[in-house]
Amino acid sequence: MNRIVRRSINMRGWAIVVRNIIQDVGPIRVLQILLAERTGQPFPRVPEPELVMADAKTVEAYTTAALETGALAPVYQLHLERISALLPPPGGRVVDLACGTGELLVTLAGLYPEIQFVGVDLSETMLSKAREASSTRGLRNVRWVREDISTLSGFEDGCADLVISTEALHHLPTLGLLQDTLRQVDRLLSEGGRIYLFDFGRMRSLRSVGLLVGQQAGSQHPLLVRDYEASLKAAFSVEEWQSALAALRRARYRLSMPLGTPFVISVRSPVPERAAPVAEALLRRRRKLALKLRLDYWQLRMFT
Ligand SMILES: C[S@@+](CC[C@H](N)C(=O)[O-])C[C@H]1O[C@@H](n2cnc3c(N)ncnc32)[C@H](O)[C@@H]1O
Repeated sequence: MNRIVRRSINMRGWAIVVRNIIQDVGPIRVLQILLAERTGQPFPRVPEPELVMADAKTVEAYTTAALETGALAPVYQLHLERISALLPPPGGRVVDLACGTGELLVTLAGLYPEIQFVGVDLSETMLSKAREASSTRGLRNVRWVREDISTLSGFEDGCADLVISTEALHHLPTLGLLQDTLRQVDRLLSEGGRIYLFDFGRMRSLRSVGLLVGQQAGSQHPLLVRDYEASLKAAFSVEEWQSALAALRRARYRLSMPLGTPFVISVRSPVPERAAPVAEALLRRRRKLALKLRLDYWQLRMFT
């Protein structure tokens, strides 16, 4: 039932990818990455230098990139749309593991006032941003908890109908802690509960990492570029993900990654047959993205 998919793309996807390659990445760099991925030697994981993200300047750079005009806007847009398709009915409960500044939950809690959201993170700096954002918007259906996601001792069995986590699990220092975290996800899920996990995946060679990071170097905040490189090196490989996912017995899911290079990995439950259409407010949000960011959104959507 649970399976792995290496995503290939359709004609429209290719048109977007070709355009992005020509304008952003450069065809030569793409060929270099694909070649490095086929021929390179796997490299050992390098855990993140910091367990939690507490440095105020990094948190600030991150917050700015997450804005609707920032470099992370396409990936947040994709998460918001895909998560909204997996949401439980009114009265349901959603837990976001390592929620950071709460960008996703604040938007979702505003759109779905009858669902209860809980964001968990270990960094007080991140959580204070999240608290500020939710109180500015007067949200009453979201709360923030400071806890370690690999233990979650303050959470009862079956307390969540949907567990999400984005760009965060590579922060766990060891594969054992990823397994512990997924065991906790399994424990928290209610009967029929769903998951949405999205993170970096470890590429096959360090050369590919250098090429991908180099592509960002000129255009992004230096702290984000440094964080991106550290994330790609700390990411778990597809094989490590597969072994850790054995801990998840309760949820149905599909693991997918881009064809050619697994630099992102998505593990998500199937969308229920009678899922509500994507909220109009989210579609408007997508249409408001600058053209370049919208094309990045489509590229990401085609690939994962
Ligand atoms: C790159 S941020 C991602 C934040 C958010 N999920 C997003 O998509 O914007 C990673 C977050 O993981 C948190 N984190 C790392 N290890 C953690 C742990 N063991 N328990 C709870 N939070 C953790 C960090 O403090 C940081 O806020």
